[in-house]
Amino acid sequence: MSYLLHIDSSARGEASVSRQVAQSFRDQWQGPVVHRDLAAAPVPHLTAAGVTARDIDPARHTPEQAKAQALQDELIEEFLGAGAYLFTVPMYNLSMPSAFKAWLDQILVTDRTFTHAGPSPAAGRPALLISARGGSYGPGAPREGFDYLVPTLEAVLGHEDLLGLDVTTVTPELTMAPHAPALAALLPLHEASMTSAHTHARTLATTFGAPRAA
Ligand SMILES: Cc1cc2nc3c(=O)[nH]c(=O)nc-3n(C[C@H](O)[C@H](O)[C@H](O)COP(=O)(O)O)c2cc1C
Repeated sequence: MSYLLHIDSSARGEASVSRQVAQSFRDQWQGPVVHRDLAAAPVPHLTAAGVTARDIDPARHTPEQAKAQALQDELIEEFLGAGAYLFTVPMYNLSMPSAFKAWLDQILVTDRTFTHAGPSPAAGRPALLISARGGSYGPGAPREGFDYLVPTLEAVLGHEDLLGLDVTTVTPELTMAPHAPALAALLPLHEASMTSAHTHARTLATTFGAPRAA
């Protein structure tokens, strides 16, 4: 049976805003879930053995290539077996946590999860990307244009030439406001962003509907 693949990457455990918003989604979600916590159990970075294994007959793999290939196979099968996706990817240094990038690098494999000859096997499946951030990067913010996470992930996860998922992004922002006196004036904006994020997540859990067959 198809399932929701829930991938976490915040290093902050239960204090993570991204994870808390994901919990609002999960509270409403009906159906099986496979959960992978990349902070608790990071997947290794892609190695030379992992890259070269992709282009060599498995019968000729070195032990290192066979091991690297087995990891990719496990992660790719888990990815392709899902009918819907929930990703929590907080902003770290204007980009994504390296733990999430390591996972992406393991599963983005030509002719397995995407192809140059048509839609990806996962094309059209719904995905929610939740990305908390300490600041604000929206229109009019002083750091507008400095968010290199959402555009990158919306391309990798959502572009029809890559994974082709049907991505919705939720960005609870200004999460530093409750902790930094200098940002106290921004607290109302933070609180509004949090309310909106939790509401959006709860709503999406019902509109995603039953996971599609893999
Ligand atoms: C290593 C690290 C780097 C961060 N870099 C940024 C950043 O570039 N911009 C920003 O707005 N917030 C940054 N933050 C703040 C986090 O985005 C913020 O704490 C957010 O709530 C983290 O998501 P989480 O609550 O889901 O863990 C950073 C936090 C950490 C731990």
